[in-house]
Amino acid sequence: MADIQTSASDKKEKEYFLDTPQAAPGFFLKGAHQYDWGLKNRLSRVFNPKDGRTVMLAFDHGYFQGPTTGLERVDQTILPLEPYADCLMLTRGIQRSVIPASTTKAIALRASGGTSMISPMEEWEGDVEGKKIKLQRPNFEPLSNESTALTIEEAIRLNASVLAVQVFIGGAYERQTLKNLTDLVDAASRYGIGVMGVTAVGRAMARTAQYFRLATRIMAELGANVVKCYYTDEDFDTITSCCPVPIVIAGGKKLPELDALKMCYNAIQQGASGVDMGRNIFQSDAPVAMMQAVQGVVHGGLSPAQGYELYSELKGQGVK
Ligand code: R5P
Repeated sequence: MADIQTSASDKKEKEYFLDTPQAAPGFFLKGAHQYDWGLKNRLSRVFNPKDGRTVMLAFDHGYFQGPTTGLERVDQTILPLEPYADCLMLTRGIQRSVIPASTTKAIALRASGGTSMISPMEEWEGDVEGKKIKLQRPNFEPLSNESTALTIEEAIRLNASVLAVQVFIGGAYERQTLKNLTDLVDAASRYGIGVMGVTAVGRAMARTAQYFRLATRIMAELGANVVKCYYTDEDFDTITSCCPVPIVIAGGKKLPELDALKMCYNAIQQGASGVDMGRNIFQSDAPVAMMQAVQGVVHGGLSPAQGYELYSELKGQGVK
């Protein structure tokens, strides 16, 4: 019987071999040493071969949220950040309409969709300043009813390095979203394009190391070349250790800048291969400064405090 209760307790060192990185003989990227040339080359555009890390700038939120705060005008808010990103994670609509085709950045193209924030809203009783009031929130069950959202020919036309597909492990449409992943892996691997499995989180899907170990490993086993999940304060190293392909972290809701930089730093220290971050950059008071601070922490060896100092200095100089 399969074990979904993998623990990360006192047996952590013995089970997860935290001091022994997985070997990738002859190539810099975890799990990628036996891929074909084209796929290795595309992944080398996403991950910097010098350190094996990436700063992916995620601004695909509109695929189900519409004009998210900070993304109302992608041409105004995102284009100034482009020079500091290794990879742009976006939808084909924004790529064609806003991103200059002269960009040399790698493309992580959103390849699943078909639901919106609005239709699956549900009422719930929330607590606001001690008072119980009726609020609305997205119901993640219908939200998980995604399909693949582009063909492989379209991905080739748009020169995607990786395709991003949302997977809802434990959600109502778990099976369908895993089928979306495997269909995209089958199609993309014919042309040496990578697939990034994106862990979706809903209420039924706790943001725990145990949940992310399960979700990331399933996606890797089913063929994802890169996996995206959230950072966990506890046992994040066990998630990266038992996932055989690179993990990048999403940023999640906007945090104070120093906290976001600490999260990036801790994730990298514990085996993440980079960040795929959106709101903590484009919703910052000074997104261009924040982008450079994240770069400094991921690629430049800065501590969170040094990254924050850089952010403050740039912001003080008027860098927005
Ligand atoms: C979800 O809408 C997308 O996959 C985002 O790209 C992802 O959530 C990362 O963005 P953030 O750092 O804002 O969480």
